[in-house]
Amino acid sequence: MNKGTRTGVRAVLARWRGRDIELKSPGEIDAMRVAGGLVAQALAAVTAAARPGVSTGELDAIAEQVIRDGGGVPSFLGYHGYPASICASLNEQIVHGIPAGTQVLADGDLLSVDCGAIVEGWHGDAAVTLAVGTVAPADLALSAACREALDAGIAAVRPDARLTDVSHAVQAAAEAAGRRDGSPYGIVEEYGGHGIGTSMHMDPFLPNHGAPGHGPRLVVGMALAVEPMLTGGDAETRELDDGWTVVTADGSRAAHWEHSVAVTDDGPRILTLPLG
Ligand code: MF3
Ligand code: CO
Repeated sequence: MNKGTRTGVRAVLARWRGRDIELKSPGEIDAMRVAGGLVAQALAAVTAAARPGVSTGELDAIAEQVIRDGGGVPSFLGYHGYPASICASLNEQIVHGIPAGTQVLADGDLLSVDCGAIVEGWHGDAAVTLAVGTVAPADLALSAACREALDAGIAAVRPDARLTDVSHAVQAAAEAAGRRDGSPYGIVEEYGGHGIGTSMHMDPFLPNHGAPGHGPRLVVGMALAVEPMLTGGDAETRELDDGWTVVTADGSRAAHWEHSVAVTDDGPRILTLPLG
């Protein structure tokens, strides 16, 4: 369909093995960039506020305020009953930690913050891992490795690549970082990235590991949330009784970095960076 004839939030679809993958026009990608910019702004505010003595509940309130002040809606709040606007995953928590006023940050904590916002029907989703006060060098290295894996995955989000080229790039970078740092990182396999656009979680699911050359071909107009999760030990996970919080089975610490990225003619366009 000609992009000029489309209005509002109704993207076209590509089909792959019976599944729909949403294709966005350039104007719709620009709209996603606005939502992504607001997520980046919320994460920047949380990053600035995170220090020993501050609770993750306070960080949640900060993120929600930034999103609402920017004309957006927090996408996590109410998602399958999720009770907050961010996920705050502390130390051995990998993802989906629920922020709380009683969860107070301490010096040496490693905190992953995941945030999503909707603006004009378009979603942005991103995560950062933050060092609270002075953090052990091994934890800083873990976070850096996860960020490198994210960067490698993003670089593979190009027209005519296959989906698992991204997966493979993430895995290869995580493994290279582990070799460099002298201890292998665990690559969490139960969770992964996803298509994003008019919903937060859309097809295709994007594994963070695997052989390249499989899955749908990436075409201009697709958007993916790339989000590696690495651990300092084993990759096995466990879900807490709250029904959300995912922790490492061995108690090792975890990192999580995420960006929403569009496939463009010029290569990957990161949608969840701060707006100029
Ligand atoms: N944003 C997370 C992801 O990266 C999902 C959060 S689920 C929620 O895919 F329920 F916490 F919102
Ligand atoms: Co995501």
